[in-house]
Amino acid sequence: MNVDHASIDDVIRARRTNMFVDRERPVPDDVIVELCELATWAPNHKRTWPWRFASVTGAGRSRLGRVVSNAMAAHGDDPNKVSKALTKYERTPNILIIGSIPGDSDERTTENRDAVAAACQNLMLAATARGIATYWGSCPKGSHDAVAEFAGFDPGTHIAGIFYVGYQAETMETPQRPAPVVMRIAD
Ligand SMILES: Cc1cc2nc3c(=O)[nH]c(=O)nc-3n(C[C@H](O)[C@H](O)[C@H](O)COP(=O)(O)O)c2cc1C
Repeated sequence: MNVDHASIDDVIRARRTNMFVDRERPVPDDVIVELCELATWAPNHKRTWPWRFASVTGAGRSRLGRVVSNAMAAHGDDPNKVSKALTKYERTPNILIIGSIPGDSDERTTENRDAVAAACQNLMLAATARGIATYWGSCPKGSHDAVAEFAGFDPGTHIAGIFYVGYQAETMETPQRPAPVVMRIAD
């Protein structure tokens, strides 16, 4: 395969957790589907195809906020966070919920989640290359079941992330990363 690896390296380094996006310009559905398709090229032990995707736009975002806020309140979360959750998904025009299905053993469930995390990174890199910013948000504690049901996923699906997505309006500062520690084991 003849790909300019420098371009790929640039995309990897350019990806930033960023929700400074053009709020008036939703990412079209076909582009969202394209990103999800690229996500599915992640490595996946036993080919369980564990990823699940839900695209949330328009008034769906406030409905998601209500679902999460209610679940957080039921879970006894900080009332301040509960009230913020009501509107937080309206900060970007697109929200993507990504889930990971359980496996037939604990080990397989863990491997499914690893595969889905790799899929999430694929998706974010593909988005970066298209000028689309992403922000990986965790599913608040106690909200996984409610969000899975909202997304139309099977019961027991773990919510890997709730991603804020939109066309990038501002770049984020890129902090230096610590150099990797590489142990060297040879003959
Ligand atoms: C599994 C996972 C969950 C995350 N959840 C949150 C979150 O709930 N809120 C948040 O602000 N950032 C969250 N992040 C994003 C990280 O904060 C972010 O990746 C980190 O600050 C490094 O910044 P960078 O992505 O721009 O390199 C999450 C990242 C991962 C991998």
